[in-house]
Amino acid sequence: MSNSLFRKKSLTKILQDAREGVADAHGSSGLKKVLNVRDLTLMGVAAVIGAGIFSTIGQAAYNGGPGVIFLFILTAVTCGFTALCYAEFASRVPVAGSAYTYSYVTFGELAAWIIGWALILEYSIGNIVVAISWSSYFNNVLEGMNIHLPAWLTTDFQTAKAQFEHVTSTGGAVDTLAWTTAPLLGSWRVIMNIPAFLIVVIITIVAYIGIRESKRSANAMVGLKIVVLLVVIAIGVFHINTDNWTPFLPNQFEGVLKGVSAVFFAYIGFDAISTTAEESANPQRDMPRAMIYSLIICTLIYVVITLVITGMVNYSEFNHVSDPLAYVFDQLNMEKVGYVISISAVVAATSVILVFQIGQPRIWMSMSRDGLLPKRFAKVHPKYQTPGFSTIVTGFIVAIPSLFVESGIVTDLTSIGTLFAFVLVCGGVLLLPKVDKSTKKFNLPYINGQFIIPVLFIIFCYFFRKKINLDVFDHEHILFMIFIVLGAVISVLTFIKRYSLIPVLGMLCCLYLMIEIPVKSWLVFFAWMGGGLIVYFLYGYWKSKLAPQRP
Ligand code: ALA
Repeated sequence: MSNSLFRKKSLTKILQDAREGVADAHGSSGLKKVLNVRDLTLMGVAAVIGAGIFSTIGQAAYNGGPGVIFLFILTAVTCGFTALCYAEFASRVPVAGSAYTYSYVTFGELAAWIIGWALILEYSIGNIVVAISWSSYFNNVLEGMNIHLPAWLTTDFQTAKAQFEHVTSTGGAVDTLAWTTAPLLGSWRVIMNIPAFLIVVIITIVAYIGIRESKRSANAMVGLKIVVLLVVIAIGVFHINTDNWTPFLPNQFEGVLKGVSAVFFAYIGFDAISTTAEESANPQRDMPRAMIYSLIICTLIYVVITLVITGMVNYSEFNHVSDPLAYVFDQLNMEKVGYVISISAVVAATSVILVFQIGQPRIWMSMSRDGLLPKRFAKVHPKYQTPGFSTIVTGFIVAIPSLFVESGIVTDLTSIGTLFAFVLVCGGVLLLPKVDKSTKKFNLPYINGQFIIPVLFIIFCYFFRKKINLDVFDHEHILFMIFIVLGAVISVLTFIKRYSLIPVLGMLCCLYLMIEIPVKSWLVFFAWMGGGLIVYFLYGYWKSKLAPQRP
């Protein structure tokens, strides 16, 4: 059995299946090849700039002060290492499927399944967070037009309860809160987030109708949100008070690190480009470029926006501010600008939802072609040429929880699942066989990590020497010590095997970001992955195209 868990697919076979699988099942030539490097870059930016920069940046700025820009840069560098590894894979495996497909080639089937299952956290569960954020901004926009939805139809049970408890404890008025106004069904309060549900339904329909239509909508939305962010910068720059930048690191680097999960969430999405490889006109050349371009564009925007808003308003005012970009203009009595920002936040979140609703079905399509999911998941709609069934399933998986789920835990879960996938992509690059570089249009630069990695690791241990302590047994500390052990093992292996610097740095940085995520989210993550293993051993293990006795 252990051998079959590591059964691998060859690159030739993957490319062949991508061509034949679609044609066999549907008698068509497959997905339309319409996306160029500009489309792919815009798709990356569409997926990345969304709920993160419009909402989570507030709390991160409160904890870290203006110095949170260092975290944006650190996270961008981490994502950059990973993007280069994605690009190396994408230049060798130009089929839809993202990290899932890549790990099938290098680690084998079980790891591929695990990655595919983790990617559901990034694509579907992440979209729940964005839909919830979309809903709250949408509600702001409606309020500005004097349209007031009942509070119990715009939030979830947990958030409504927490809000009620908070207001009660501070002695505020509770009569208009979702908790108090919700109708009762027996003893159960009916509280649900209808706008979040509806936006997912609408976007699912767009994704179902076709990549060309989806592409047009995504391009239009991403153009608009970039323009609005540039306007924010252009107006905001004239209202910066440089005194607000002192101190730059009010809570030292520890304060900055509190924002890891939120800031990383803001970067999630550049890898979604890799799921549209089969719709890309020239994937080997365009996908690596598009990933790097979109990452650079987003980083520049994030860093400048952070500097502008922490210059306009003192960082200490951002506690619990969930709409920081609109908030800073409201503080300067420029409510109209704040209102336009709310509208653009709705647009930004819409494009993120669209990209992920398109990405998830394509991963399932690849898994289905391999026999790990039922055949229907790979079926391409004869008229629209999109994976129709997978798109509808994605719609259900995102829309239903969006009605009821609280966003905090799903944000952490999304970040942890995505970082996990990134670690395996970076690790996978180290295991790729050598090929003739002249045959590829993108090559990950090889820099020997033999000495650099161990030296960097020793420097890291020196700076964190007080935390390296076996006597403390709290959960966060255990995670840190696991990181130290993994870091030591990776450093020794890099020394012996002369591993390439970029993928090793990518792995270590992603692992470090992972351990900064709270332990309770790790437990949910393990439960999720455990569920995934059960599904694999009940279905995929037996039905896989690589299984020896296929019926
Ligand atoms: N990066 C995406 C966002 O911030 C997920 O909405």
